[in-house]
Amino acid sequence: MPVWERLKACRHLVIVACGTSYYSGCVGRYVFEKLTDIDVEVEVASEFRYRKLNFPSNTFIIALSQSGETADTLAAIREAKRKDASLLGIVNVVGSSISRETEAGIYNHAGPEIGVASTKIFTSQLTILTLLAILLGRHQHLSLTEGVEAIRAIRALPDQIRAVLAQNNHIQAIAEKYYKNSNWLFLGRKFNYPIAMEGALKLKEVSYIHAEGYAAGEMKHGPIALINPDMPTVAIVPKDDMYDKMISNINEIKSRRGPVIAIATQGDERVREMVDELIEIPPSLDYLNPILSVIPCQLLAYYCAFFLKRDIDKPRNLAKSVTVE
Ligand code: M6R
Repeated sequence: MPVWERLKACRHLVIVACGTSYYSGCVGRYVFEKLTDIDVEVEVASEFRYRKLNFPSNTFIIALSQSGETADTLAAIREAKRKDASLLGIVNVVGSSISRETEAGIYNHAGPEIGVASTKIFTSQLTILTLLAILLGRHQHLSLTEGVEAIRAIRALPDQIRAVLAQNNHIQAIAEKYYKNSNWLFLGRKFNYPIAMEGALKLKEVSYIHAEGYAAGEMKHGPIALINPDMPTVAIVPKDDMYDKMISNINEIKSRRGPVIAIATQGDERVREMVDELIEIPPSLDYLNPILSVIPCQLLAYYCAFFLKRDIDKPRNLAKSVTVE
């Protein structure tokens, strides 16, 4: 059967990836679960081979990779091929190994990414995963009205991203205030839980500041012990169905005198009054918020690295393509 026909019948998807690409896959899982009837698993590529995955016959494996050369992701798709799974690639580099070893796929066409830290590819991967979910969702339960609403919201994103970038000086000033703090926490829920993990990864890889990204609900199971006036928390709190729970988390941090940098929806006066610093993102659909909320995280990492005089484009010990397992 042609790929497209098999994809329409697909009810089980496994996304394999590493690092930043893995976190975009984690957002993708929530998006697919919202817009389609497909069960989604996301697996760190280097762990994939140790899982005892029994793929139903209508399973697709998606390899997500900027470079298309990441050894662990390549090894994962070779393993999946051995188990007769259908393979799709979402890669940026045209003609790369993953694009050649998958049956079909989508190119990001986001242009060469020069810096070691993956940034524009993250938002590009999120957009592609969302478009794919909308396409497949329209063959399932997603109505025409919901599909049109989604496309309109995606079309609004470039201007909304410009509005976030316009806060550049404000974000630089926040970084200047906190870059000497050597431990940071990033918290989010649902669509923004992977953004918390990605925000922490970006900060540690370019500035070498220790940072942890957590599902905010996990805070009370351990990380809360770390909260003190020297540990900033970046709380991602857009107005979505997780809002009230994130507000409780912020209260818990503030009652322990932890500084909070909130990434919240424009005009949210309630959050403004609670937190130390506020970065605003324009209102969007809940599943598109990560495309906006990740940008302040990337800028915070950039400016902390800048103030610490790090080599931002070439962080120590890292390579752009990780071609060893
Ligand atoms: O090229 P890939 O997307 O497969 O790379 C995966 C990771 O090595 C990569 O995202 C890495 O985590 C970056 N340094 C993150 O900024």
